[in-house]
Amino acid sequence: MASSPTIFSFLFLFFFSTSFAQSSFRPKALLLPVTKDKSTNQYTTVINQRTPLVPASVVFDLGGRNLWVDCDKDYVSTTYRSPRCNSVVCSRTGSTGCGTCFSPPRPGCSNNTCSLIPDNTVTGTATSGEVAIDVVSIQSTNGVNPGRVVKIPNLIFGCGATFLLKGLARGTVGMAGMGRHNIGLPTQFASAFSFNRKFAVCLSSGRGVAFFGNGPYVFLPGIQITRLQTTPLLINPVSTASAYSQGEKSTEYFIGVTDIKVADKSVKFNRTLLKIDATTGAGGTKLSTVDPYTVMETTIFNAFRLAFVRAAAAMNITRVPSVKPFGACFSTKNVFGTRVGYAVPNIQLVLHSNDVVWRINGANSMVSVSRDIICLGFVDGGVNARTSVVIGGLQLEDNLVEFDLASNRLSFSSTLLGLRTNCVNFNFTSSA
Ligand SMILES: *[C@@H]1O[C@H](CO)[C@@H](O)[C@H](O)[C@H]1NC(C)=O
Ligand SMILES: *[C@@H]1O[C@H](CO)[C@@H](O)[C@H](O)[C@H]1NC(C)=O
Ligand SMILES: *[C@@H]1O[C@H](CO)[C@@H](O)[C@H](O)[C@H]1NC(C)=O
Ligand SMILES: *[C@@H]1O[C@H](CO)[C@@H](O)[C@H](O)[C@H]1NC(C)=O
Repeated sequence: MASSPTIFSFLFLFFFSTSFAQSSFRPKALLLPVTKDKSTNQYTTVINQRTPLVPASVVFDLGGRNLWVDCDKDYVSTTYRSPRCNSVVCSRTGSTGCGTCFSPPRPGCSNNTCSLIPDNTVTGTATSGEVAIDVVSIQSTNGVNPGRVVKIPNLIFGCGATFLLKGLARGTVGMAGMGRHNIGLPTQFASAFSFNRKFAVCLSSGRGVAFFGNGPYVFLPGIQITRLQTTPLLINPVSTASAYSQGEKSTEYFIGVTDIKVADKSVKFNRTLLKIDATTGAGGTKLSTVDPYTVMETTIFNAFRLAFVRAAAAMNITRVPSVKPFGACFSTKNVFGTRVGYAVPNIQLVLHSNDVVWRINGANSMVSVSRDIICLGFVDGGVNARTSVVIGGLQLEDNLVEFDLASNRLSFSSTLLGLRTNCVNFNFTSSA
């Protein structure tokens, strides 16, 4: 009984702050923590959803179409709703299907409800599931600390099935899609609070952060990230999802890489692979948080690896047998450590113009596989790779990447380590 006054005051504060939040507080930005799962190298976040609120751990999927969760198991909520077929909500989702469910009604099993296709983009498995609406609570931010919790009463998501969780990080119950779509989370967050259709991601090997809405982006010790390079976001006219309806565009974020350099020299390969084929949607370069390492089509990968191995040899770095899944590994013996990682040949992704360059230093190119062996953290995507270059998790870490959906622009910082901060350094102590 000794603890009941604490519980009482906690509940009181909770109700006080949520009702206050709803009546008079409109956030300029929101945030989510994004944590790397060490055993799968996936990135996870937590969406507080339902009534009563449940912290739903989900895989952070940069290019995913929408949020989806397992509704088959343990989905309990008094505020769950399923929109009627042909309603405004259904048309926002782009749904053309209308479902009937021959089991007792429950979340995920309603009649006269539109359907969508929850997609496990890690394994490439998709199924049909109903469109659903429920309450979500999320922290606002001023860019320096988390602030008050705000509520979105009617967040649209998809109901997946338990089997669809296979291959996802332990403890997760779905995926949070940040892709370019009406019901992608960045667009829904922006329309809930009328802020800019913009978000930024700062992944780390520990707990990083995603911001939605307006900056600033400030990391300890008080460093505001302002100097970003900008390149257009490209639209792939053909969906890159595991399953989709004809005519659907890709919700993933493509950029126009025009050249890949190792130690300041261009790597030779067939440049057509860097273009998106408008008929098939094949080719091009996209960003992904479900691929832990950058994936390259085989001919690009082989040329790139050879260029790196040669440049490393010129620096007297000793090559050692490869460790799977990597194609080139080295002894750390002759390799210096620097503020931006091991001193290895530098890698550059040249974008739409020769002076807009994504620079990749040792911290973002090398993986330590044992105490004295490091490997080039890029992998072979095969000869039939749908997308030629997929910039993956390791290459995105400690790099602030901002997606502006209204102006179709990607801005990026390149490594924050050079600024003496990193993505773990967001101050998660609430100032509310
Ligand atoms: C949906 O309708 C079918 C046929 O009318 C009925 O058998 C079924 O029980 C209903 N399901 C739900 C979830 O209401
Ligand atoms: C370059 O790649 C494109 C797209 O895969 C292919 O159609 C073309 O034949 C290739 N060109 C050469 C010279 O290999
Ligand atoms: C590499 O080693 C050779 C022979 O020991 C030496 O002449 C050369 O200067 C070294 N190069 C670098 C970049 O350290
Ligand atoms: C983090 O933010 C809190 C709340 O504003 C503040 O009290 C604390 O000093 C900050 N931490 C550091 C290391 O600056």
